[in-house]
Amino acid sequence: MKTRVCEILGIAVPIIQGGMVYVSNPELAAAVSNAGGLGQLYSGKDPDILRERIQQVRQLTTKPFGVNVPLLLQEAKDLIDVAIEEKVSVIFTSAGNPAKFTEYIKERGPRVCHVIPSVRLAQKAEGSGVDLIVAEGWEAGGHNAYDDVTTMTLIPQVTDAVQLPVVAAGGIADARGVVAAFALGAEGVQMGTRFVMTQECIAHQAYKEAIIGAPDTGTVITGRAFGPTRILKNKLAETIINWERQGMSSEAILEKLGPGRSKKALLNGDMEEGSPMIGQIAGMIDDVVSVQEVFDRITSQLEPLLQKLQQKLSG
Ligand SMILES: Cc1cc2nc3c(=O)[nH]c(=O)nc-3n(C[C@H](O)[C@H](O)[C@H](O)COP(=O)(O)O)c2cc1C
Repeated sequence: MKTRVCEILGIAVPIIQGGMVYVSNPELAAAVSNAGGLGQLYSGKDPDILRERIQQVRQLTTKPFGVNVPLLLQEAKDLIDVAIEEKVSVIFTSAGNPAKFTEYIKERGPRVCHVIPSVRLAQKAEGSGVDLIVAEGWEAGGHNAYDDVTTMTLIPQVTDAVQLPVVAAGGIADARGVVAAFALGAEGVQMGTRFVMTQECIAHQAYKEAIIGAPDTGTVITGRAFGPTRILKNKLAETIINWERQGMSSEAILEKLGPGRSKKALLNGDMEEGSPMIGQIAGMIDDVVSVQEVFDRITSQLEPLLQKLQQKLSG
């Protein structure tokens, strides 16, 4: 599995742990990097706390790791500056215009990887000079784009449209997903949901247990009009969708919700009133394992899977 993604990021295996607000903690990021992939911290909003987290990762691994900075944050520039000062090797920008900081970051050392949900934004990212593109389909956990473009349809269209290496994200959790992503033209994968379900992830036990119990239809998109977000179906999801059906304005819904709903689910384990962001592939995940086990399962299953596939295709 040596691809351009490995070369650009300086990693052995092109498996990336996506930045995840609240739950891509230093232990998780370091464990992923130690397993040969690329771990990633979420930036948060406080530059000093980010600096501490980066230093914590450094104590746990000597391998490269990344920091995810959503560009819509007011604090984005300060967070980027901390990552640069701390010599983080790659910054993953998301939720914003890649032209804004790409040159600034690259001139100061780190690589830039931008997360996109469409061909148009992939081309824009390439034009902005990023090193890598993460193309994320609608199956993914957390905040999604307004158009419902799935990973299956997004990846081949993006890989046809750009020269840069593309990392596929959304709905990938095992060797089958990796092989499928590569068949579609990707040169790496980014996973979030699978890495939530690891021992090293700080996420609350109740949230992890709810994910184990989730079926294939266990997630839903809330906030279609003001910020589509894939979460586990729960009381809050039902309430928001009812408000949406009743035609309540986005402003009124946001006011009723107030801040902190994701944290409530992810860190406090409130599975009724919190917003438990997770991907559609949650339906397939039924255990909490070590990060190393996630890597071992994928790498050990690749060869037998490819042999089976060859038999099927040539049979
Ligand atoms: C709980 C959770 C929080 C997330 N938070 C962020 C985030 O803060 N920034 C971001 O760019 N992506 C975020 N994501 C998306 C992941 O980085 C990743 O691209 C996605 O989970 C991949 O799809 P999957 O969930 O099907 O594996 C989040 C995903 C989850 C599950």
